[in-house]
Amino acid sequence: MAQTSETSRVALLDGAFGIENLRIVHRPKPEPGPGQALVRIHAASLNFRDYLVATGRYNPKMPLPRVPLSDGAGIVEAVGGGVTRVRPGDRVAGIFMQTWLDGPNRAEHGASALGGAIDGVLADHVLFDENGLVHVPGHLSLAEAATLPCAAVTAWNALVEQCRVRAGDVVLVLGTGGVSLFALQFARLHGARVIATSGSDEKLARAIQLGASSGVNYKSTPAWDKRVRELTGGLGADHVIEVGGTGTLPRSLGAARTSGNVAIIGVLTGISSEINIAPILHKHLTLHGIYVGSRAMFEDMNRAIAQHQLRPIVDRVFEMEEIQAALRHMESAAHFGKIVVTLQGD
Ligand SMILES: NC(=O)c1ccc[n+]([C@@H]2O[C@H](COP(=O)([O-])OP(=O)(O)OC[C@H]3O[C@@H](n4cnc5c(N)ncnc54)[C@H](OP(=O)(O)O)[C@@H]3O)[C@@H](O)[C@H]2O)c1
Repeated sequence: MAQTSETSRVALLDGAFGIENLRIVHRPKPEPGPGQALVRIHAASLNFRDYLVATGRYNPKMPLPRVPLSDGAGIVEAVGGGVTRVRPGDRVAGIFMQTWLDGPNRAEHGASALGGAIDGVLADHVLFDENGLVHVPGHLSLAEAATLPCAAVTAWNALVEQCRVRAGDVVLVLGTGGVSLFALQFARLHGARVIATSGSDEKLARAIQLGASSGVNYKSTPAWDKRVRELTGGLGADHVIEVGGTGTLPRSLGAARTSGNVAIIGVLTGISSEINIAPILHKHLTLHGIYVGSRAMFEDMNRAIAQHQLRPIVDRVFEMEEIQAALRHMESAAHFGKIVVTLQGD
């Protein structure tokens, strides 16, 4: 069906899990009800979670069809009755958990996670509750803004809200994906020193250009925890942004400084295994479980991003019709930073 002014494209994971089962269909353009805003999505971005969702590994019981992707930014096109937080023309992004506005996370917020528990944002038009939106920093393109809702808020929550990073601290980031590069940028913004790991020397050189003081190749230096201790005078890192999961956690604990923080974020190498807890108690480590963050954290982060004119690292931009190729690119782990999907040519 050709797109008309009344219809709108939407991506669907349909029939069965698998990247090959993602397709784009047309549906009537939705209309905002009371308290809702209709957002014309200009760009979306990929997180590793979207790859897990598409391949059925995030939640094998997830009902299909499901609109994929949690992160999108666009322009408010229309609002329903009683809406006061946004106006037509505003540049906005959706928050990851639509009901987690402020304060500590609560069990019920998980049921409002975009692109997982509920339909996501890979669509020309998406209806949001007005409370589920934030305004995005004015200096960012909408493609850049689309990288913020999951990866950036996660890195901000981990490093700033939970670990309470301070100038002079040492921050260890694992790999050069979306969360890790935001953590690198936020650590530098707070005056911390960053050690980055990567499986690629070329990516490490780019991380150093971004402000990391040292890089460790976890392929050529399998004992990278030891190397991190050497680079810190034997002490270890004050904060570890642990995105690797059970395959990297033992070395992340080894790389952490006594009384340091380890932000438990990712599952890149696995989610379940036996872990030796001795370093946690011997070193008085604090482990912080992180699940993205609240709207208040997103807004605090945006203020800092605007203040410092910080720009997200966009690896590559795909067209909406290339969503399968975008996910394959993520699967290849060739990317450095964020993979973006454009919907309106922003
Ligand atoms: N808890 C939360 O709220 C939350 C939020 C966002 C993401 N996550 C999780 O955090 C992880 C990262 O997400 P993302 O979206 O940033 O992923 P991503 O952009 O796909 O980044 C993946 C990168 O991690 C690096 N990597 C892979 N295996 C590694 C290993 N064994 N050791 C160190 N680095 C490794 C690779 O970088 P190099 O090529 O440089 O080696 C790879 O490119 C995922 O597991 C995701 O599910 C959790």
